[in-house]
Amino acid sequence: MEKLKGLILSGGAGTRLRPITHTSAKQLVPVANKPVLFYGIEALVEAGVTEVGIVIAPETGDEIREAVGDGSALGASITYIPQAEPLGLAHAVLTAEEFLGEDPFVMYLGDNLLRDGITGLVEAFRRNEPDALILLTQVLEPEHYGVAELDGERIVRLVEKPADPPSDLALVGVYMFKPVVFEAARSIEPSARGELEITDTIQKLIDTGHTVEQHRVKGWWKDTGQLADMLEANRLVLEDIEPRVDGEAIDCKIEGRVVIEEGATLERCTVRGPAVIGAGSRLVDSYIGPYSAIAPGCEVIGSEVEHSILLAGASVSHLPSRMEASLLGRNVRILRAEGLPKTLRMLVGDRSEITLA
Ligand code: DAU
Repeated sequence: MEKLKGLILSGGAGTRLRPITHTSAKQLVPVANKPVLFYGIEALVEAGVTEVGIVIAPETGDEIREAVGDGSALGASITYIPQAEPLGLAHAVLTAEEFLGEDPFVMYLGDNLLRDGITGLVEAFRRNEPDALILLTQVLEPEHYGVAELDGERIVRLVEKPADPPSDLALVGVYMFKPVVFEAARSIEPSARGELEITDTIQKLIDTGHTVEQHRVKGWWKDTGQLADMLEANRLVLEDIEPRVDGEAIDCKIEGRVVIEEGATLERCTVRGPAVIGAGSRLVDSYIGPYSAIAPGCEVIGSEVEHSILLAGASVSHLPSRMEASLLGRNVRILRAEGLPKTLRMLVGDRSEITLA
């Protein structure tokens, strides 16, 4: 098989992770202090796919260009492909047609994360040369995904977010295609949600007698489109980190898998891993519990934080109770004032969510 190109979809609207994604791309929200999107690029490079197009949206494209650059730091050569409107995954494929040309390609959804990468999958595609290859995995709530109905190993039908799912096998956000996919994408109609669906495109390939192969995901898979999934992805990635202390920890108790980056300073803290503390962060008299990712430049003073993600520059101080299952955006400040009356005073952005116990 000829050379394989990569296509990462990093446009879209990111409505489900608002307010974080009002101002930044959902694909750049960090998992274990690394943007989700970087895991995708790394997975492609690891599978030998280095010529990669990234589809970007007008609102968040610049931020993605800035974070990824020309891709050389990750071993890839990146071409940016602006998509004027988020009209669907198949629309994004058509937008990238000129970049992809006659080459077969791997399409990777920029908010997806697969523990075991895609090397095995790319090998199967090269070996069997089907017109399309999809990845499936069992999920608890198939109605939130594209769903496959199988007869033995043969795909009978694919449906996007069905109210009444025919199985619990979801389509994972990694697909492989030959150029015949363009013709199929051009021949479908927008779905009820107004998008040109990749699921319908693959169904079209099946209906027109093309070969579509399915494989199962072995390790875990996460679509990080929502807060709970994001926290879960963070937990799963942190479970595998190699502990290392490059920062400074004075009078601290560090337990389990913990990474403390250079330039971070901790005083009188307990950190129970898995957890990662970013460069230049300052933690004093605090407890950092399992599955926490503290980005660079954060401050945690006299507080307890667990199973949470803090984005760059966030700070919490003297919280009256432990913070958990939280995602704090960049430069968010949560603090406790001294004295009375004991009131809540807040300046909170649009669509933020705060749960008080
Ligand atoms: O994550 C797996 C699921 O991804 C599959 O099971 C579904 O079949 C598939 O349709 C897709 O569903 P989502 O609703 O989760 O897709 P989402 O809108 O989140 O878009 C996925 C990625 O593609 C995301 O990084 C944004 C980007 N995107 C999306 C659209 C609609 C684009 O670049 N352009 C677009 O027009």
